[in-house]
Amino acid sequence: MKDDKKFTILDFIRKKESGEKITMLTAYDYPMASLIDRAGIDSILVGDSLGMVVLGRESTVSVTMDEMIHHAKAVRNGVKRAFLIGDMPFMSYQTSDEDAVRNAGRFVKEAGCDAVKIEGGREVCERASAVINAGIPVLGHIGLTPQSVSKLGGYRVQGKDPSSAARLMDGAKHLASAGCFAVILECIPKALAKKIAGRVSIPVIGIGAGSGCDGQVLVTYDMIGYFDKFVPKFVKQYADISGTISEAIRKFKMEIESGDFPEDKHSFTS
Ligand code: KIV
Repeated sequence: MKDDKKFTILDFIRKKESGEKITMLTAYDYPMASLIDRAGIDSILVGDSLGMVVLGRESTVSVTMDEMIHHAKAVRNGVKRAFLIGDMPFMSYQTSDEDAVRNAGRFVKEAGCDAVKIEGGREVCERASAVINAGIPVLGHIGLTPQSVSKLGGYRVQGKDPSSAARLMDGAKHLASAGCFAVILECIPKALAKKIAGRVSIPVIGIGAGSGCDGQVLVTYDMIGYFDKFVPKFVKQYADISGTISEAIRKFKMEIESGDFPEDKHSFTS
């Protein structure tokens, strides 16, 4: 890790201006948050991907505010330096400005988050402004927005045709004008993401959006090979944690059955 100084909202724009890449990973509990923070990752997102990779559900849409707050509190306990973002779950902000502000406030007051994330482009700008006006920074998220998977017709690449590409560009520009400090671009063609990064003043963080973004985010459990139900094309697996864990569990079982565990050093004499 380079330094212990807290990464703030100002560092996002500083990094964009200097051309340094922004790093972000997801976390859902204390031990993983501590490891990510100690490795010097700039920002941690308590993503609603929680619903799929931790709770084993088919999508993110059923995740509740209470579930998000529970996990965000655990993550907070492991974070000293990284900028901590709480992901607003489906229907915690779509209903009204009041709901959006109240639920964003819960992430800050109850879980100690520095900011929140909401999904959507031009259509959520009013919500984003309401939350920002309440003093809470907002990260936008466009492209493949998993909360709208039903409307999008599945988990598919977005912005492939000219009109949807134009809509994404328009969404990014409006989120920047609404005061979002950065925007995530998920699963869009590399050339379009680079074009958006070049045209908006705020940093764009890519996931499945190629190398032309100002930073990158991945779901940690995908990246370390812990969630093995499916692996999206855009994920690079840096470890095979499932393999390591399975091997440890197999060995534990074998050593109990053979009597090799526990040894005297694991036992008390009086
Ligand atoms: O919920 C999540 O983890 C996310 C990331 C994939 C950006 O939204």
